[in-house]
Amino acid sequence: MQSSPTNVLFVCLGNICRSPLAEGVFRQTAHEAGNGHRFRADSAGTGSWHVGDPPHSRSVAVAARHGIDISAQRCRQLGADDLARFDVILGMDRANVEAIERLRQEAGAGSAHIGRLLDFAGRPGDVPDPYHGGREDYEAVFRLIAGAMPEVMTRLLGPATRRQA
Ligand code: 4NP
Repeated sequence: MQSSPTNVLFVCLGNICRSPLAEGVFRQTAHEAGNGHRFRADSAGTGSWHVGDPPHSRSVAVAARHGIDISAQRCRQLGADDLARFDVILGMDRANVEAIERLRQEAGAGSAHIGRLLDFAGRPGDVPDPYHGGREDYEAVFRLIAGAMPEVMTRLLGPATRRQA
């Protein structure tokens, strides 16, 4: 029996700094492990300020330094339909998760697993907002996200969150 792809959404506030990195690292990690076909990954922001914009130049740069191209991503805002479409929705910090949970209550929709990225990887904490920071802050964010992703992948491939076709 073949599993249908697991739909994974990464969420931050602006969808220009952290969640585009998480989406890019996740895609790369899945691809390198030969698991690209098992997932559909996307990212979104709880805020609408940057809708249609590419990721922040510092996020594009740090990803590129690590061999990942996120420059084609475009910012979009999290919507109620995402709660029904995605199996797993991972916020970067506690405020993101609270906003996702509020939207689920308002929409009354979905059975998605909602949580923080680092909690999901078994290393509890926030991925801090680097928006007003410099290159080192973006590097630190990249390292947090990239360090968590192998465990995120292992959990997603496990029976608890896998959807059977
Ligand atoms: P992100 O960072 O949530 O990691 O994309 C931010 C980007 C933009 C803003 C805040 C955080 N903003 O206020 O515009």
